[in-house]
Amino acid sequence: MAKLKKGTRCTVCKSKGEKEKAVVFLPHHRLALCKKHFIQWFEKRVEKTIKEFRMFSKKDRILVAVSGGKDSLALWNALTRLGYEADGFYIDLGIDQYSDDSKKLALEFADRIGRTLHIVSLKEEIAPIPAIDKITDRPACSACGTVKRYYMNRYAKQLGYSIIATGHNLDDEAAVLFGNTLHWNIDYLKRQYPVLWEEGGFIRKVKPLCKITEKESALYAFFNNIEYIEYECPFSEGASSIEYKELLSSLEEKHPGTKLQFYTNFLKKMYPILKEYQERQKDQLKVCKICGEPSFTEICSVCKLKEKVQNISQKH
Ligand code: AMP
Ligand code: FES
Ligand code: ZN
Ligand code: ZN
Repeated sequence: MAKLKKGTRCTVCKSKGEKEKAVVFLPHHRLALCKKHFIQWFEKRVEKTIKEFRMFSKKDRILVAVSGGKDSLALWNALTRLGYEADGFYIDLGIDQYSDDSKKLALEFADRIGRTLHIVSLKEEIAPIPAIDKITDRPACSACGTVKRYYMNRYAKQLGYSIIATGHNLDDEAAVLFGNTLHWNIDYLKRQYPVLWEEGGFIRKVKPLCKITEKESALYAFFNNIEYIEYECPFSEGASSIEYKELLSSLEEKHPGTKLQFYTNFLKKMYPILKEYQERQKDQLKVCKICGEPSFTEICSVCKLKEKVQNISQKH
């Protein structure tokens, strides 16, 4: 976060004739804010994003995918404070200490805000991530992403929610966009939007923090005394998205607003072109022969993975 000059006053307080000192400076918004007005600014920005992309309304039942990290807990907190009907969903990935710690924090937070946290254990559903990592050639994170998306979709439907909200922030989205553009990965680019509408067995997925930076969500969590898991998953080491994030952050430091512009201009200028292309490919979606979930192939990737796990455990 850019340095705050000593003695700077909160922009909002100043406009009201008050003299509260600022504790945060947001250079790309040209705002210096006190704690109270930062929290207000954050929640207003989330609300504005929800409305801009017509993500959901106060009548919808929302399931927040909670990892125990700052973003998803900040999101859950903001949604409930804004008056949305939002429960949590935690997938226990079985990654030793990391999963134990993050589950504990997610449960404590659910208790604090008095909302339900649904928990699914990967060990019971298929196998824990360290075991999946051993039997697949792909990096653990990529198999993990597939499995997470699958169970989020399946359980949200089963539990009667109409929307899944994830804590992806602007840094996540800009880094993924950067990687997908670098490789001209059109199939991923055409799906990179803050709302993916429900279709053919997929439930609606939304990212209400897509215009909030990682630092802003960490500050929001800090100011609200939200305890979150501060270390990364042990499998995330060396992921290219971390390099892209660093690259974009160094650009951001020199030119505040770069990340936001890169991302929002993609949404405004490039996404509509890709969407048209996507419309023409929609009929390729099938239903998995084994589990009945939507899939682009006859048997979905999670069922294939399950078969692999079963075959291996039979051999041992
Ligand atoms: P990540 O892929 O770890 O950057 O996480 C992106 C988003 O996915 C988080 O903000 C959460 O909303 C969701 N998520 C990640 N891990 C889990 C988990 N174990 N259980 C439920 N949701 C998760
Ligand atoms: Fe899935 Fe790290 S959170 S592999
Ligand atoms: Zn103020
Ligand atoms: Zn399947």
